Amino acid sequence: MKPFKIRDITIDPPVILSPMAGVTDYTFRRLIKRRGGVGLVVSEFISVEGLTRHNPKSKRQMRFDEEERPFAVQIFGGRPERMAMGAEMAQEVGADILDVNCGCPAPKVVKNGGGSGLLREPALLETILKEIKKSITIPLTLKLRTGYSDASINVVDVAKMAEQCGVEHIQVHGRTREQGYKGLANWEIIRRVKEAVTVPVSGNGDITTIKYGMDRWRESGVDGILIGRGAMQNPWIFRQFADVLAGRQPYQPDLQEKKDVLLEFFSMCREEMPELVSLGKMKQLAGQFTKGLVGGAQFRQTLYHSHSADEILDNITTYFETLSNRETFGDGVVEADTDPVTDSCDSGMALPACDAGSSAAVA
Ligand SMILES: Cc1cc2nc3c(=O)[nH]c(=O)nc-3n(C[C@H](O)[C@H](O)[C@H](O)COP(=O)(O)O)c2cc1C
Repeated sequence: MKPFKIRDITIDPPVILSPMAGVTDYTFRRLIKRRGGVGLVVSEFISVEGLTRHNPKSKRQMRFDEEERPFAVQIFGGRPERMAMGAEMAQEVGADILDVNCGCPAPKVVKNGGGSGLLREPALLETILKEIKKSITIPLTLKLRTGYSDASINVVDVAKMAEQCGVEHIQVHGRTREQGYKGLANWEIIRRVKEAVTVPVSGNGDITTIKYGMDRWRESGVDGILIGRGAMQNPWIFRQFADVLAGRQPYQPDLQEKKDVLLEFFSMCREEMPELVSLGKMKQLAGQFTKGLVGGAQFRQTLYHSHSADEILDNITTYFETLSNRETFGDGVVEADTDPVTDSCDSGMALPACDAGSSAAVA
């Protein structure tokens, strides 16, 4: 388990913030990057139809900061010429890597031939990859699911084809399109992909603890891992991995830091977005972040019913004061870790209403 390279770009540590539409925007990526230990960040998936028609939202989604490097832009679509144009635009804005989404299960995306729909059409995917290769010089990478359904698991063949097309890093989320986010990711299939190609392979699915991640990593032999939902629950998870890889005790943030990270996020959101959107973003992060914390359920209820920035700030202060005084808050029990409710890559998280729009327009 050591750093790996995508051409001349070193992924160190080999732990990647997995792209999440409506989540891994400019603000969230920098929040996570600043906690340390992130080897690569990826944009939300960006529609090439929007990009190439100069949709301001799609263009805004390519925005990044130098502190985020190495930075990958992920695009999706089903038309080779549009994909090539979108890839070129990502290179022009200075992305280090161009990633193609071949995993999104959202019906709207699949219907238009993009996302996991491409798993059913390997010939079209091959054309897309070849067209993109002609239009960019930065490395091309691919994010795949294991197949369209249990009856058509084809990720090993698709990965081999992609390698022949010049793809330089293959990332596999170990679920099929049909599976959505149900059950557990199949890391055995990820291992088979790793054995079948010579380019680096990274595995993805369900990593929310260091132990689970290390176990899957060892068993599958992958070069890197991607963490998605786990980053919202624990923004320090990357740093903790880096610590363990370097033989140190994993970093443990104290309550003050936990409070501060929420406040930092809120303040970053308020600088970037209209008030209503930043309230939604805050509810989204806090909702995931307080899973498993004492009284988290009641805190989330209070937060979801907050209608202004002041109310949110007051609620955060009260919640953390209560925790630090060791008083019982709400139900007074530590919640069991449960899977966040998810069903698609663009609208899966149980997002507060005012936030759902931020990703829906992409798909
Ligand atoms: C809300 C949400 C949005 C997502 N959006 C994307 C996306 O834009 N592109 C992509 O390749 N995967 C997307 N995914 C899939 C994740 O990158 C990742 O593959 C999946 O969540 C499994 O990893 P995890 O268990 O670490 O979360 C999304 C997942 C979620 C929950």
